[in-house]
Amino acid sequence: MIIRHEAPTDMAAIRFVNEQAFGGSGEANAIDALRARGAATLSLVAVISGQVVGHIFFSPATIQGPDRSWVALGLAPLSVLPDYQRQGIGTALMNAGLEECRQLGHERVVVLGHPNYYPRFGFVTAKPRGIDNEYNAPEEAFMILELQPGAFAEVTGVAQYQPEWNGV
Ligand SMILES: CC(C)(COP(=O)(O)OP(=O)(O)OC[C@H]1O[C@@H](n2cnc3c(N)ncnc32)[C@H](O)[C@@H]1OP(=O)(O)O)[C@@H](O)C(=O)NCCC(=O)NCCS
Repeated sequence: MIIRHEAPTDMAAIRFVNEQAFGGSGEANAIDALRARGAATLSLVAVISGQVVGHIFFSPATIQGPDRSWVALGLAPLSVLPDYQRQGIGTALMNAGLEECRQLGHERVVVLGHPNYYPRFGFVTAKPRGIDNEYNAPEEAFMILELQPGAFAEVTGVAQYQPEWNGV
């Protein structure tokens, strides 16, 4: 398996992976819209025998506090073709993606997802740390990760993703 940046020729394959993983086109549409307006921070694909089988995407997010805001990255989505799940591909994409975001100097990540999947990468529940979300998500499904030590220490407020994610 190879993990690499998305290439222009991967667009249809990335759509397919996300549509298959989520059973709809909401995520694929949001990715295409974000990419089109230059709001894709990082997009990696997992490739096996020339086929894109997994995808991870980060876009800018903010944490809006009472009198200031902080920049963050929204991790959304992470997707693996159903036939390729539970083989470590999601883990490889997570490790590569988070490491590259760290090396790029990003400090913090937010994610809305499976509460029993993301903690293994260091994510913790956001609400007890003073970070809310706008999606009425179950408390344990909204999580944060510090890419730099102490990055969330002073941060409190509401996480806001890019508008393309509204309604997805
Ligand atoms: C979630 C997902 C990206 C994980 O990718 P993956 O390559 O299957 O994951 P890995 O092989 O690295 O890790 C496997 C472990 O992840 C966990 N896991 C996988 N899918 C899971 C799910 N839907 N819910 C909870 N835990 C899950 C399991 O604990 C599994 O371990 P096990 O095999 O011992 O049970 C993939 O299942 C997927 O695309 N799901 C559909 C889309 C989705 O829900 N994306 C996440 C949105 S937050």
